[in-house]
Amino acid sequence: MTGRFISFEGIDGAGKSTHIEALADAWRAQGRCVTLTREPGGTPLAEQLRALVLHQSMDALTEALLIFAGRRDHLQQVIEPALARGEWVLCDRFTDATFAYQGGGRGFDLEVLHTLERWVQAASAPELGLRQPDLTIWFDLPAAVAAQRLAGARVPDRFEAQPQAFFERVREGYAQRMAQNPTRFLRVQADQDRASVWQDLQHQLEARGWR
Ligand code: TMP
Repeated sequence: MTGRFISFEGIDGAGKSTHIEALADAWRAQGRCVTLTREPGGTPLAEQLRALVLHQSMDALTEALLIFAGRRDHLQQVIEPALARGEWVLCDRFTDATFAYQGGGRGFDLEVLHTLERWVQAASAPELGLRQPDLTIWFDLPAAVAAQRLAGARVPDRFEAQPQAFFERVREGYAQRMAQNPTRFLRVQADQDRASVWQDLQHQLEARGWR
């Protein structure tokens, strides 16, 4: 029994949620035990931190620290135990989002983020290195298309309220993380209708032996 850790990324409005649910169903139908979770959040403590991060104003370092504090709790309470049980953990956002939103969007110091990543994601044994997803599915969407999709959708949180230029930098942040981790990342073009995105995703997962 080997657990698998799969994260899902993209700018707000990229439409990843329905595909995460559908993939969870598909893998369950293949007999996998699937844990669905999200960041920021995923535990009672981390959900409280999520509410602060999404709705309270704070400086960029405080924001990064709260996000990584929630991640530490989430890894310890949910992700690591599920992987140890051999489950497939599907996580709606993980550390690539921090590099994209805090690093790219806010322009926060990437070296500090790398340090926090090392502290929080250190594996139980040093030779195992850092805990990272086995696969990261990036729903890539131009910021202008996302802005159209989100216009007037709901009361925006601190990130959704950002201008289009912020999301262009977030997208660039994801592109940089993908360039640094080409084998872990799978990029899906998300500016197509839902059925085409799903088909594209299936083809790429099959090509890599994930379906
Ligand atoms: P969600 O709406 O996809 O659940 O994500 C909540 C928001 O949090 C989204 O706008 C992206 C943002 N976010 C960060 O800024 N940094 C992070 O590390 C994560 C995981 C999310």
